[in-house]
This record gives sequence, structure tokens and C-alpha cells, in this order.
Amino acid sequence: MGAVQLTGVRKLFGALEVIKGVDLSIADGELVVFVGPSGCGKSTLLRMIAGLEDVDYGDIRIAGADVTELAPARRGVAMVFQNYALYPHMTAYDNLAYGLRRAGMARAEVDARVRETAALLQITELLPRRPKAMSGGQRQRVAIGRAIVRKPEVFLFDEPLSNLDAALRVEMRSQIARLHQELQATMIFVTHDQVEAMTLADRIVVLNAGRVEQVGTPSEVYHNPANLFVAGFIGSPAMNLLPATVGQGGRLTLAWGTTMAGPACSSGMAGQSLTLGLRPDRLSLVPQAQAQASGQVTLAEHLGDESILHVRLPIGQSLTVKASGDVAARLGDTVHLGFDMTHAALFGADGQAMRSA
Ligand SMILES: Nc1ncnc2c1ncn2[C@@H]1O[C@H](COP(=O)(O)OP(=O)(O)O)[C@@H](O)[C@H]1O
Ligand SMILES: [Mg+2]
Repeated sequence: MGAVQLTGVRKLFGALEVIKGVDLSIADGELVVFVGPSGCGKSTLLRMIAGLEDVDYGDIRIAGADVTELAPARRGVAMVFQNYALYPHMTAYDNLAYGLRRAGMARAEVDARVRETAALLQITELLPRRPKAMSGGQRQRVAIGRAIVRKPEVFLFDEPLSNLDAALRVEMRSQIARLHQELQATMIFVTHDQVEAMTLADRIVVLNAGRVEQVGTPSEVYHNPANLFVAGFIGSPAMNLLPATVGQGGRLTLAWGTTMAGPACSSGMAGQSLTLGLRPDRLSLVPQAQAQASGQVTLAEHLGDESILHVRLPIGQSLTVKASGDVAARLGDTVHLGFDMTHAALFGADGQAMRSA
């Protein structure tokens, strides 16, 4: 059915190459999230799959067929945009029915499809209303409905929740997860929000400057980031990235002189420069005698169930600590930090992961 395959896909706007050779295989029924910073090419890549942008090099297959040169309407895809794009002068019913009528579907079948879709999205009572009489969340549900009525092989979502407030975003996120389960359709969801990506995706595609940095399950990209970019982008607060060198006997020497046993460091690597990656929850407050680092608290965020401390070391590097519960440390305090190396990551001078434990 709706498997999607991209091979060597590139896109140029004038002389500017914005998609720099993407190879990607999405299985039928999978929910894949494209995530990356603003401007990295997420929308362009999605629009190429939809047929709304030409492909300069490479090809795109949907359900086994080469669709690279095919018109959008013939690809079996439906796209939902950030800004809803509903017809303002039509009721929700007519917004849902419009495409089906235009395709020449019989009136009774159109009606059945519209009502079935409305029931699935719990918007039946909105059917007689026009967009201006709906909230943002209701409009976005109608926009999603307009994709569903067409029964596409592949759903494409371009930041569909970005215009909604925080509470509604969480609710719509769970709706999309439920729809994915019920429809069993292939979905590609674009977001710049890594929390949205982590909570929705079967697999995440991390994009940066027109290239795929990593493809993996949320757990894989979180625990085994392929490189420094992914390590810094996935996870909030961000992973601590500490410059280090490998000393004699394979021990790591951190920039401020502390030495410690590092994961995957052999004595053969002596002299190499690396980056040690530690998630904020791997750092904890310890007595001075056990500390790997000491510094001053520059920001203390007490969230009730957890505390986030930003600690500046004497050499100028800042570390982020995530502790459960309330910690006593306050702005300006000197604190001592212990490192738990259980899930430490190591990156070579080229920025690529050497191994993650
Ligand atoms: N029609 C266009 N003409 C020229 N440049 C474009 C066009 N559309 C997008 N771009 C550029 O391509 C890059 C990727 O844009 P986009 O795919 O919208 O990124 P994202 O969705 O990840 O924020 C950006 O640098 C953007 O300015
Ligand atoms: Mg975009």
C-alpha cells in the first residue's frame, strides 16, 4: 500500500541547494516525523512528496510506483497545512465534501464519507458551521477531516499544530496518534518541536541544512545520537557536550583537568580529542570529595517535580543538571557535580558518535 521511498532526492531554488541528497524508506502504515530547525528543508521535502515542488534530481516512489513526475492529485496523498486552508465561505460539511464532489462521486457516497469522517474526528456538530464560527482547534480538525475523506494512501502533515495553544496541541497530538492507529495509514508529520516528534513518531528523521542526520526510533535518536548535531537537538534541556582528550591508559581528561574512566576509550586512542555527551539527568549534586566538577549556579528553575540547574564552571563552560524533586541550590550557590557515565556518548573530532553505552 502506502510505502514511500526517496532515492537521491535533491532540490535547488536557483543556485541554492536546499535538499542535498535524501535517501529514505518509509514503510506502509508507519508514522514518521521529520524534525529539524527552521529552514532546514522539512516543508520542501514534504512538498516534493506531495508533488507541490519539482524534484531536481532523484526519484520518489509511493506504493511502489514512481510518482516523481506525477500530478499531486494522482499520487494518493493528502496534505494538512499549518494554516488550515479551509474555504471560508463554505460550511464544514461542504469543505469536507468539496473534493469528493469535484471528483464526481455520487451524492449518497459523499454524504456517507463526510459523516463517517466527522464521527471519527468528533466534529459532527460542526458540520453546518463556517470556519469563522469555529475555534482554531475545530478548524484544524476539519482540515484533517478534509484529508481523511479522500482515503489517501499517505497523509502529509506540515506543522499542523503550530498555530494552536499548548493545551490544545497536546490534545490534538493524541488525536493524531489515535487516527494513525485507527486508519493504519502511512503518515509523515513535520515539526520543529522535538517533544512533538518524540511523542508521535514510530521513527524520527532528523534533518539539518537539507541533509538527513539520523533516522531512528525516538529511543534510538535519544540514547544513541549519531552525531553532535542530533545530540544537541534532541532532548530538552539539551545534552551537555564536554570537550575532552584521551590520556594514557584510555582515561578521559576533561577540559578542566578532571580525569575519569571513559566509555570505549582504549589506550591506543591516547592524545585524541573527543566530546563527551551527558544528558542533564546524568549529573547530580554530590559532596565535594566525589565531584567531577564544581561551579556556580547561574540559573535555578524549580518546577516542583524537578529542578533544572545551570552551573558555570571556572573555565567558563556551563553545565545543565536535571534533578528530580526540589533541590536546595539557589542562584549564586557553589555546587559540586557527580557524573553518571551509564548512558554517556562519545563523539570524535569529526562530530560522529564513537559509541554510546
Ligand atoms: N520557493 C522558494 N524559493 C526560494 N527559497 C525557498 C523557497 N522555499 C523555501 N526556500 C528556502 O529553502 C530552505 C528550506 O525551507 P523550508 O523547506 O521551508 O524549511 P523548514 O520547513 O524546515 O522550515 C530555506 O532556506 C528557505 O528559505
Ligand atoms: Mg516548514
